[in-house]
Amino acid sequence: MRLLFLGDIVGRAGRNAVCEALPGLIARHGIDFVVINGENAAGGFGVTEAIVDDLIDAGADCITLGNHAFDQKETLVFIERQPRLIRPINFPKGTPGRGATMIKARNGADVLVINAMGRVFMTELDCPFRAVDNEVTACKLKQGADVIFVDFHAEATSEKQAFGNFLDGRVTGVVGTHTHTPTADQRILAGGTAYMSDAGMCGDYNSVLGMDPEEPLNRFLTKIPKSRYEPALGPGTLSGFAVDVDDATGLATRCAAFRSGPHLEPALPPFWTGATNT
Ligand SMILES: [Fe+2]
Ligand SMILES: [Fe+2]
Repeated sequence: MRLLFLGDIVGRAGRNAVCEALPGLIARHGIDFVVINGENAAGGFGVTEAIVDDLIDAGADCITLGNHAFDQKETLVFIERQPRLIRPINFPKGTPGRGATMIKARNGADVLVINAMGRVFMTELDCPFRAVDNEVTACKLKQGADVIFVDFHAEATSEKQAFGNFLDGRVTGVVGTHTHTPTADQRILAGGTAYMSDAGMCGDYNSVLGMDPEEPLNRFLTKIPKSRYEPALGPGTLSGFAVDVDDATGLATRCAAFRSGPHLEPALPPFWTGATNT
């Protein structure tokens, strides 16, 4: 089974790039399941229901969020009627929506997707380790789900790597989001879990984390906000993580970075192009 994760969509540049490319990618490479982080899809801040519907129409099976989950206030309402949209599981009890969901993949597999948020250099939510531990204890790999995939939305690479090791052997994959910058550390951990510290973003990399550079630069230089952050609107580059899954165990057999677009060195998984892969 083949799974593609795409990192934080930032604004229209990211949305357009994803919606244009995704149907072709799914068809060409036989992708069975697609997870996308959409926390910055609406002008850089949160997501709207129309955008969620567009991403699902383009082929997204599940959309995850992060610290920007509820920047658009309408999300507090529509998240309850969008079963494919999840927010970090370790938000306080009573937060609208859910932090995990089971979705049927194109090949019939039951995929449990979990979204959690780190606490280092971020708003402190409940403990993400214990929250996800509860989930994967209640729904074990190959017992409750054929595949378990975790989007860990966090700032610190130390917390992300600790999270990967915590779940190693119990889930199919753990991918980091939030920094909007892809890391080069994709690998399969000792217990068989595919891991990458950050998937990077889908958006205009001619920017500061997807935003037009002018205002971020102004704030670094003067410490006085002059205007609001606006997404950069040049053509978007896609960035993410591709994982092949052993159907017998639910663990990863191979993984690779995925990047496509005008800004970053392109990276196609070798197992998508027929090249040998270790
Ligand atoms: Fe983000
Ligand atoms: Fe974030």
